[in-house]
Amino acid sequence: MTTDARAKLEINTDRLMASIEELGAIGAYHDEGADVMGVRRLALSPEDGNGRRLVKRWFEEAGLRVRVDAIGNTYADRDGLDGGLAPVMSGSHIDSVPTGGRFDGALGVLGALEVVRTLNDHGVTTRRPLTIAFFTDEEGCRFGTDMLGSAVAAGRIPLEQAYALTDEGGRRVRDELESIGFLGDEPVGRRRPHAYVECHVEQGPTLIHEAYDLGVVTGVQGISWRRLTITGASAHAGATPMKFRRDAGLAAARINCRIHEMCASGEYGAEMRATMGVIHPEPGMVNVIPGRVIATVDLRNPDDSMMRRAESDLDAFQREIASELGVTIDSVQTARTPAVVFNLAVQDAIEAAANARGLRNRRILAGAGHDAQEWASVCPAAMIFVPGLNDGISHSPRELSTPKQCADGINTLLSVILSLSDGA
Ligand code: GLV
Ligand code: MN
Ligand code: MN
Repeated sequence: MTTDARAKLEINTDRLMASIEELGAIGAYHDEGADVMGVRRLALSPEDGNGRRLVKRWFEEAGLRVRVDAIGNTYADRDGLDGGLAPVMSGSHIDSVPTGGRFDGALGVLGALEVVRTLNDHGVTTRRPLTIAFFTDEEGCRFGTDMLGSAVAAGRIPLEQAYALTDEGGRRVRDELESIGFLGDEPVGRRRPHAYVECHVEQGPTLIHEAYDLGVVTGVQGISWRRLTITGASAHAGATPMKFRRDAGLAAARINCRIHEMCASGEYGAEMRATMGVIHPEPGMVNVIPGRVIATVDLRNPDDSMMRRAESDLDAFQREIASELGVTIDSVQTARTPAVVFNLAVQDAIEAAANARGLRNRRILAGAGHDAQEWASVCPAAMIFVPGLNDGISHSPRELSTPKQCADGINTLLSVILSLSDGA
């Protein structure tokens, strides 16, 4: 096939969307709030195990050699004309948040698979080998640390530390990997690709509002997660005068208000974002002062120095609140990633591929965490963003991208994979 014909190859959009639907049926649930079907496929749950087996079978049916590493990352390899060269890798994740949609992560994995299926259909062999993959627990919802599998593969998180993480029920990552049959035998950290490229839904409103077909992702903002255990004293809601209380619920509320004030103040940059996503009071009764609260704080900031300042100011505020309200606050950092800048040559390759296909595109910074940011420490890496309807909503069952939007992203991925594997 000529270079020109390769540049014009098109994926099979119906097959891509059918695969997204079929995987999306695993862990599907009816979300009453949104009145649509959502996806609940928490990392290393039985549903994740079923999703993994389906995708692994598809990898094998596409003629790929599948290997699972010691943290459950699943790689599928396709030969290149020059087997001595490092491969081009593409992938993402198939675990979801408890109230997820069909596209977050799945588009990148099934899109990479669709690229391979398309190359197979047309008998195309690339110069470099190709690897497509899904990585363990990108979401971090169950075991508390996001990008877990790719972070272990990239050497940022030690394997034993990852194995020892537990969910709320005390179940350990290693045991759960074993129970779903994905405790693999490939040592972690062996993979050193030539380049990594990942397609993902934007998960925000920018592309759709500005009528872009595609985003060329410049990097990912910093993420800081902490888990707070706030301990006061449970007591009678009616019989305990206000000045006698040690109310852990009030402390959580004050911290939640504070992080929102920090964002609004502009003191930590215009882009700081903050969320208290977990607030579990105990005992959780109408007439009992909460004696204990488990809460989480998620801070995002594209500027690392602003992030550090926000973290240390929040530490100081937590100490103040503890002393003012007579509670103790145990704060554990569960995830921390600095802002990441993606490789310019890979960004340029994405832009060139999108332009060649006549797709209106812009550079954009990722708001969410992604596996690509871990691979960026191993090899040149960048991402392609696909817009979403409903203001690009994500981590919600209302997450939705059209077949055309998905096809634009995956056709661009196809072109980029070809140019990275055939070029220098
Ligand atoms: C992970 O996907 C995150 O951004 O929370
Ligand atoms: Mn994702
Ligand atoms: Mn996600």
